[in-house]
Amino acid sequence: MRKFVAYTLATGLTAVALLATVNCGDTQVAASTTANGDAVKRGEYLVSVVGCGDCHTPLNMGPQGPEPDMTRFLSGHPEPVGALPPAAAQGPWLWAGAATNTAFAGPWGTSYAANLTPDRNTGLGIWDEKMFVTAIRTGRHMGTSRPIMPPMPWPAIRNASDDDLKAIYAYLKSIKPIANHVPDVQPPAAPVATN
Ligand code: HEC
Repeated sequence: MRKFVAYTLATGLTAVALLATVNCGDTQVAASTTANGDAVKRGEYLVSVVGCGDCHTPLNMGPQGPEPDMTRFLSGHPEPVGALPPAAAQGPWLWAGAATNTAFAGPWGTSYAANLTPDRNTGLGIWDEKMFVTAIRTGRHMGTSRPIMPPMPWPAIRNASDDDLKAIYAYLKSIKPIANHVPDVQPPAAPVATN
């Protein structure tokens, strides 16, 4: 059930359109700084196309409706909002999302979009490239431990090439670090007796 929910939510929520890596033919990239610069650029492009910010950048209410808070770009569920009380799905509804679109409650419990900025203590600061690629490929927290919960669309993003995942990592490491501690996933609330 969990696997099914994870898969359908992840694939249903995000239209992931990772383009095939462009082969530069016989153009050799000499300086490694240039190669890294190219990776950062491609990573920026991929992050914008996949829409990582849809869940990892919190929404604020603006004059035209909800808009991403770019002062908290990709820094995950806002620390001042913190952990939320469990939300029980009712009637035909299976899951619920917070107003910030960074916290999600469903049969898996309550998950909070991670801080993807390179902040050392609260973001991807201590992650290396291998951990990042393994986490996305295996759906395991930091590449080794607990399962990564919905709606993180790792079952779709894992289809990216190694080069593209490395480019996403290079870009995320290049953005502004933002200290924002995100709560860990909470288990589902115990079912309430109805009779
Ligand atoms: C539909 C919402 C959504 C989208 C889109 C999304 N994420 Fe996530 N992501 C989440 C949630 C929710 C979590 C927290 C899951 C958990 O704690 O188990 C998460 C967690 C993560 C983690 C932490 C994994 C770990 O080991 O704990 C990484 C890294 C990550 N996302 C990267 C990305 C990247 C890169 C993209 C875009 C290519 C992206 N996410 C797009 C919702 C999303």
